[in-house]
Amino acid sequence: MSASEAADAVDNLYVSCMPNSQEPALRAYQRIAPFYDLIDLPFELGRYRSIRPLLFEGLSGRLLDAGVGTGRNVAFYPSGSDVVGVDLSPAMLKRAARRRTKSGANVRLMQMNLAELAFADGYFDAAVASFVFCTMPEEERLAALRELRRVVGPSGRVRLLEYAPAQTRFRRALARIWQPWVSWAFGARLDQDIELELSKASLRVTGSRYVTSTIKLVEATPVGG
Ligand SMILES: C[S@@+](CC[C@H](N)C(=O)[O-])C[C@H]1O[C@@H](n2cnc3c(N)ncnc32)[C@H](O)[C@@H]1O
Repeated sequence: MSASEAADAVDNLYVSCMPNSQEPALRAYQRIAPFYDLIDLPFELGRYRSIRPLLFEGLSGRLLDAGVGTGRNVAFYPSGSDVVGVDLSPAMLKRAARRRTKSGANVRLMQMNLAELAFADGYFDAAVASFVFCTMPEEERLAALRELRRVVGPSGRVRLLEYAPAQTRFRRALARIWQPWVSWAFGARLDQDIELELSKASLRVTGSRYVTSTIKLVEATPVGG
């Protein structure tokens, strides 16, 4: 498939009703999508690329890439798995579609709000998300975490790469300097700890560690699973 054919191949465009609270995120990512990969490139090469494989270690079967963005995780999807990537922004999804050919997985892309996923309970074996919850307001984070728990079912896994409060005073100071730009460009906050919210969504943390001085890899399973 050529890049231009792939670009048109966003699957089953599912347009859920966006609550007003999601409009700022949708607007921000529609606006930044054409420049996103370029602006993010120094971070992608310097930090993200080496830690993305950790999201998928040991995972197989049906996987959800929640907030797939421009598809930076696509190259790391486990070969032979069935991955659905969802995102609010059609412009971000269009770029993800161009990366699909770089995957050994079967990849579908759908426009969808994480707080209102159109999948049956337990549909996925695991859900992953990278740098998504830092872009969501608090009440939506909780709704989205509950949805991830629902769609992975009692024995599923949720794995997140997220910004967390920096480990050193120097890094916390740098994060404060970057914050106004990061808020404007990506609608993101760098100083929140998603791990603290998982229990509110009935998810039990089974692993958590800093993989850089500012980014945590967190794994959770449904409580009682
Ligand atoms: C910072 S980007 C990260 C993209 C990708 N996961 C990565 O690692 O490069 C955040 C993405 O989350 C998406 N997003 C934010 N809120 C969302 C929501 N409520 N539902 C679906 N996607 C959402 C944005 O559209 C954007 O593409």
